[in-house]
Amino acid sequence: MLTTSTATTDRFPDAGVVMRRFAGHASHADHFKTPLRVVHLTDQHVGAVTPMRAQVAAVAAANAARPDLVCLTGDFVCHSQAYLEDLTEVVRAFSAPVFAVLGNHDWWSGANPVVRALTRAGATVLRNQHTVVHVAGAKLQVVGLDDAYTGNADAVRATRGLDPSLPSIGLSHIAEEADRLWSLGVPFVLSGHTHAGQITVARLHELSLGRVAGHRYVHGLYGSRRGEGAVYVGAGIGAAVMPLRLGDRGQREVAVFELGAEPGALHEHHTEQAALPGRAPSEALKERRRRQVAIKIDRRRRRGYDE
Ligand SMILES: [Fe+2]
Repeated sequence: MLTTSTATTDRFPDAGVVMRRFAGHASHADHFKTPLRVVHLTDQHVGAVTPMRAQVAAVAAANAARPDLVCLTGDFVCHSQAYLEDLTEVVRAFSAPVFAVLGNHDWWSGANPVVRALTRAGATVLRNQHTVVHVAGAKLQVVGLDDAYTGNADAVRATRGLDPSLPSIGLSHIAEEADRLWSLGVPFVLSGHTHAGQITVARLHELSLGRVAGHRYVHGLYGSRRGEGAVYVGAGIGAAVMPLRLGDRGQREVAVFELGAEPGALHEHHTEQAALPGRAPSEALKERRRRQVAIKIDRRRRRGYDE
């Protein structure tokens, strides 16, 4: 059983989870008399590389913020289904309703078993769909994209039937989907995948993720919260390969968003940043990523794994 009191955070100061706080999109102020508090975590990567004390500390930090809802943007596991029970235990410990979307590692490890582990924990997993959340006397539409890295995102399907008179937020593992969501009426998107580069000294993360990997959005806020839309890329909690995290931006992170607060009204860690030039994946690369998932599914089936 996980313990999620604030005291738990104190017991694991070496877990190094930082909290950052931001307002949401300006349009949210029309809908929420009292700000709605959304806590965002991403890339938990429950497994051997990330110590369980970091997972416990992250949940404790999230709960200490007294969220109205919790949003998780994928990569729940690393490379296998070995830690699904731990994942269920971690997600079950959040003190508010949980909404989740999948990431590429979830597809690589088994999308359906990951969804079942999350569902057992009480989370709502959104796979190219949206739902209306009734919380704190208000309504919020939560739009969830399936993972774009592995070619499973469908923004049109996810937003079909969205009520333009209600406020919305979007969840997408890959932040570059945000532009599409903005154009479909979702002005504020939470994302992950980059881990902020994990090593952010000397702007190495912008070099590796921007120039080499082609990401436009690397860590933090981009876009416009007073315009068409904004996206937040969380630094994540865990890692799948290398546990090292260096530099202010690279720390394990829990982000708190006050939907309904005016942008800039809070003491925010930073404001909207300019997007990097980026480079969209080629059709050949997208096909290679799809094939990679198909090969892994086939291999698991032959070994008798549940899909
Ligand atoms: Fe990812």
